Amino acid sequence: MSTETSVTPSLDRAMCAELDAADPLASFRDRFALPEGVIYLDGNSLGALPKDTAAHVQRVITEEWGDGLIRSWNDAGWFAKPVALGDRLAPLIGAAPGEVVLGDSTSASLFQTAVAAVRLRPGRRVVVSERGNFPTDLYMLEAVQELLGGGEPLERRLIHDDGPTLDDVLDDDVAVVVLTHVDYRTGRMRDLAEVTRQVQAVGALMLWDLCHSVGAVPVDLNAAGADFAIGCTYKYLNGGPGAPSFIWVAERHHAAARPALTGWHGHARPFDFELGYAPAEGITRFRVGTPQLLSVAALEASLDIWSEVDLDAIREKSLRLTELFISLVDARLAPWGIGVASPRQSARRGSQVALRVDDGFAVMQALIERGVIGDFRAPDLMRFGFAPLYVSHTDVWDAVANLEDILSTEVWREARFARRGAVT
Ligand SMILES: Cc1ncc(COP(=O)(O)O)c(C=O)c1O
Repeated sequence: MSTETSVTPSLDRAMCAELDAADPLASFRDRFALPEGVIYLDGNSLGALPKDTAAHVQRVITEEWGDGLIRSWNDAGWFAKPVALGDRLAPLIGAAPGEVVLGDSTSASLFQTAVAAVRLRPGRRVVVSERGNFPTDLYMLEAVQELLGGGEPLERRLIHDDGPTLDDVLDDDVAVVVLTHVDYRTGRMRDLAEVTRQVQAVGALMLWDLCHSVGAVPVDLNAAGADFAIGCTYKYLNGGPGAPSFIWVAERHHAAARPALTGWHGHARPFDFELGYAPAEGITRFRVGTPQLLSVAALEASLDIWSEVDLDAIREKSLRLTELFISLVDARLAPWGIGVASPRQSARRGSQVALRVDDGFAVMQALIERGVIGDFRAPDLMRFGFAPLYVSHTDVWDAVANLEDILSTEVWREARFARRGAVT
């Protein structure tokens, strides 16, 4: 695997087809129900639909719900699903069995774990995050600061590429550091092990947001010795819109951790219906209430695919695709002054590439009209996600060819491409 972009600009479409023919992951594309004529480069936002998902969810509805009715809580294993699927997800993030549980939304899971982390460091009054973090993480942290501050909110320190750095903000007053491993805008990837080590050196705990990492890059939380992690399953894992988040807590914290939300599914004896809350053993205490079992069923179907996938092969293909994209952008889009906002050093890049384009919103709409689907993040980033299970090298070629045509014809200037919906 190279560390720098290395695909030659003279590469042509036939060579991309050859790369596809030699691709060890190529057969996975047929497991997804992608519409004819669509090049889907937004799997970093909402993953594609696996072909088996509809039948599996249908079976859960008709057999488990329809026929099994309430009996399915036991007979179909509904009650155990959040931990059972957590165990199936665990190898994707370097977790051990019993360390992962499905949660509610990622936002709720961030709250659930950040509160537990701060409580494990009593007396420390600072939480650290990053200015460019996905905003929901910062919003949820604000609630944690209020809740646990004891009258005066906990202090928040934010790092940023232009400073302050992690070194600048870390001291023995920091309880927890909350960072996103792969940046949602640029795809910049942090060194999980090195950052964890730096944070723990001052006695603070490390909470990782893995939304843009899981299924996109190999992650080894236990090798890094991290403390907490959360993430979503609707992006690279293809669990579907509204799929549950996941929570990872290092086993060494299970006994002492006190999550924020103390619902009955996290109780030691939920069906004793006791008056008071008593936390369950292990990761189960991070559960809250009744899981959204139809969404859980959709995730279950996509995890069947993931159980066959080699994460090193994912990373190798991901880097080939992003390197190819960057090389083609450099070679063909230079006349329009388009900048690559993602790291060029592949070790620091996740599975997406962002381009800085004035009027990028309209350009993206024009691209989407042609069936090349990416997305846009204000003020000027066009985001392209490369999900190695279903994106091919010829897709990358065709996407850049379409982009070049849209820029050279200036078709994006047409008024309809400026109209914005609620979601960009
Ligand atoms: C890094 C990151 N964290 C959190 C979220 C969203 O959280 P939720 O699943 O609660 O909508 C996203 C959504 O794209 C994200 O990119």
